[in-house]
Amino acid sequence: MLKTVVLVNILETYFFFQDSLVNGNLCHCPFQVTQGTNQIVMNCADIDIITASFVPEGGEEINATGFNYQNEDEKVTLCFPSILQKGSGSLKIDFVGELNDKMKGFYRSKYTTPSGENRYAAVTQFEATDARRAFPCWDEPAIKATFDITLIIPKDRIALSNMNVVDRKPYPEDHSLVEVKFATTPIMSTYLVAFVIGEYDFVESQSSDGVTVRVYTPVGKAEQGKFALEVATKTLPFYKDYFSVPYPLPKIDLIAIADFAAGAMENWGLVTYRETALLIDPKNSCASSRQWVALVVGHELAHQWFGNLVTMEWWTHLWLNEGFASWIEYLCVDHCFPEYDIWTQFVSADYTRALDLDALDNSHPIEVDVGHPSEVDEIFDAISYSKGASVIRMLHNYIGDEDFRKGMNAYLLKFQHKNASTEDLWECLEQASGKPIAAVMNSWTKQMGFPIIVVDQEQHGSDRVLKISQKKFCASGPRNGTYENCPNWMVPISICTSEDPSCTKMKVLLDQPETTVNITNIAPDHWIKINPGTVGFYRIQYSTTMLESLLPGIRDLTLLPVDRLGLQNDLFSLARAGMISTVEVLKVMEAFVNEPNYTVWSDLSCNLGVLSSLLSHTDFHEDIQEFIRDLFTPIGMKLGWDSKTGEGHLDALLRGLVLGKLGKAGHKATLEEARRRFKEHVEGKQTLPADLRSPVYLTVLKHGDSTTLDTMLKLHKQADMQEEKNRIERVLGAIPAPDLIQRVLNFALSEEVRPQDTVSVIGGVAGSSKQGRKAAWKFVKDNWEELHNRYQGGFLISRLIKLTADGFAIDKMAAEVKSFFESHHAPAAERTVQQCCENILLNAAWLKRDAEDIHQYLLQRKAPPV
Ligand code: BES
Ligand code: ZN
Repeated sequence: MLKTVVLVNILETYFFFQDSLVNGNLCHCPFQVTQGTNQIVMNCADIDIITASFVPEGGEEINATGFNYQNEDEKVTLCFPSILQKGSGSLKIDFVGELNDKMKGFYRSKYTTPSGENRYAAVTQFEATDARRAFPCWDEPAIKATFDITLIIPKDRIALSNMNVVDRKPYPEDHSLVEVKFATTPIMSTYLVAFVIGEYDFVESQSSDGVTVRVYTPVGKAEQGKFALEVATKTLPFYKDYFSVPYPLPKIDLIAIADFAAGAMENWGLVTYRETALLIDPKNSCASSRQWVALVVGHELAHQWFGNLVTMEWWTHLWLNEGFASWIEYLCVDHCFPEYDIWTQFVSADYTRALDLDALDNSHPIEVDVGHPSEVDEIFDAISYSKGASVIRMLHNYIGDEDFRKGMNAYLLKFQHKNASTEDLWECLEQASGKPIAAVMNSWTKQMGFPIIVVDQEQHGSDRVLKISQKKFCASGPRNGTYENCPNWMVPISICTSEDPSCTKMKVLLDQPETTVNITNIAPDHWIKINPGTVGFYRIQYSTTMLESLLPGIRDLTLLPVDRLGLQNDLFSLARAGMISTVEVLKVMEAFVNEPNYTVWSDLSCNLGVLSSLLSHTDFHEDIQEFIRDLFTPIGMKLGWDSKTGEGHLDALLRGLVLGKLGKAGHKATLEEARRRFKEHVEGKQTLPADLRSPVYLTVLKHGDSTTLDTMLKLHKQADMQEEKNRIERVLGAIPAPDLIQRVLNFALSEEVRPQDTVSVIGGVAGSSKQGRKAAWKFVKDNWEELHNRYQGGFLISRLIKLTADGFAIDKMAAEVKSFFESHHAPAAERTVQQCCENILLNAAWLKRDAEDIHQYLLQRKAPPV
């Protein structure tokens, strides 16, 4: 696109902010014409250009005489009556745009003042390709420029942008307005430009390295910014030290935006967040919200270096941005809050999620060719984020922290204020470590999927000989095929033994289909485990004897928590793929009765949820509920309802998880106590502690009626914090009666629910029961036009489709979903639709294969012994 002109640096932008129309005028200056031309092509969407002209340096202004909009391509061609000669000049454009309601580009976000009046803030969200909705520009990450931004705004509002304000003065033509001018930015990509106009309070602090940090909150809620402020002021020096590169801007603002599609956005110097990803109330926020805020702040601040200072060359390398930030956010939280044991949670939240998605035939390689904006939107998925983060974690472990940091520092210094590709990073890490990084990593980023490592052992005297091989892991089970046509990975493999389960005894790099490893000096009764710490991105299939030797380590807790979790998760996915029986996994799950670790329980609980959802298609759904109750009762009894002195973050998370699971599964005592506490809460006698609210709300709704729903909707209306509203929204779908399910679905699209939260209300309905799933799918079909119109293009549409279509387990539903989207296009969700159809077929096959055995096992375990 940029063959004939080059944008050198300054882009001046003026905005005139009214209720919904935006007048802008901008000047690209100086502007290089590199080859004589009478046309300039720019990105532009939903913008009307009024006038455009080119002023050659020292020459006469040439007015453009035509503007040809290529709407499909989101471009405009400015046509000039004569040739613009090679050389510099400036390009001036006057235009009118719209302050839209779509949470992208330059949009308006509704908020209510403390006195109850509705007002609008004006906010930007440009990533990936929406800067072109705010001003005509060259909207590609590699086309960097400096920006001088001036905003003309009502004088009772504040204006923020990437840089600090350098001037604020009355606007001469209208005394109700002021003109706010910001300092020039460093050279940067358009997708990182941001401005916000509205009413906010803030809390402020200085980080130890001298950066002014502010957290902007809704008016009257400055207190709720303190937690994020503390995290941010600790995080900036942490990254400065980790990267050995200082934060380059004088200030950073973190701001909570009421209507916000993503979780947060890393605009350079002005990071925007959903309210729930930034605001913490000491009394009314729960432990998981605190943790989420810490992770999101850690994530977005990491982008200030990795993404903003050094930017990916093209969206193909998006994973580098998002995968890296999704990895280092954990490093940062581990530094700020070691008591969160956050790395174990990484395995449950990111690593296993990525393995599940990447086992599908409809996955994609981490590095993927993208062109059209809808293709770019589509790759903001668990492959870029969670697989990206997982392979970086594996790489970090393979290289070692010291060399990794050295390589990182070299990369940031070499490419700062420029763009880089995946290969550039590998080269720097290779130089720092002397290891074959590109060769190893290409096998993980350029081909989709991952291996299953098959292991068997033989004892030879005091030696143990391991036979290790790799083949692609497929969610539908092993495929026939020769090694030649099978993909291979370069797999860093570590091995530990029962002598010291936390210490790697041996490391090998598996760079071929199979190998043999000899472990010396090991007693015949000692076990061997592959992948201690669950760091390598692969699944493991042990021989029967090896697996049997490992299982006692679950019951007696000698295996590390992360490895107990990993082992269970591998077995579960092997069962889904038909490689072992689901009954075997249920037996293994029973060995977790003594489990004390929150994250291990959380992962187990998640898998049991998947199984319970699968079995909701059978007539023995109640039997799996009983299994769940039996498994969770001992830990539930141990924890009780009230927190005890000396308990910490993870105890709070565990209690909420276990009580919610028991309540949902219909555990009588839990249900009764939940109802009692709910009543006291509603009557204002005893407010529920924040950490108990989700499990209590879920329990009473799951076993509730129209009165329960009315009460919950009333609590929703009264709630002043978005966190509380979301908490309620997410569990409303648990209500069982079909007419009430319908009410919840209608509520999802009502004014009461913020547009970005509608998806989780509908998803909550779909995930709660068989009836809910059917009703939610029908609702999505019936309201497709409105839903697609609201979320088109963005990743929320993919999330909506996944949440509502993924859980079916009958073959014909796969056909129905496919055919619906053939006639109702969702370009940014094409791959998601294919993944859903694949998952439905996998569920159906799983159910056919294992339902009867599972039923028999569940019956037999409660039969009295004969
Ligand atoms: N750059 C993204 C925000 C984004 C996402 C923009 C999708 C455009 C499309 C940001 O850094 C991000 O990754 N946010 C996450 C939160 C994070 C903690 C994983 C999000 O929004 O979910
Ligand atoms: Zn990110």
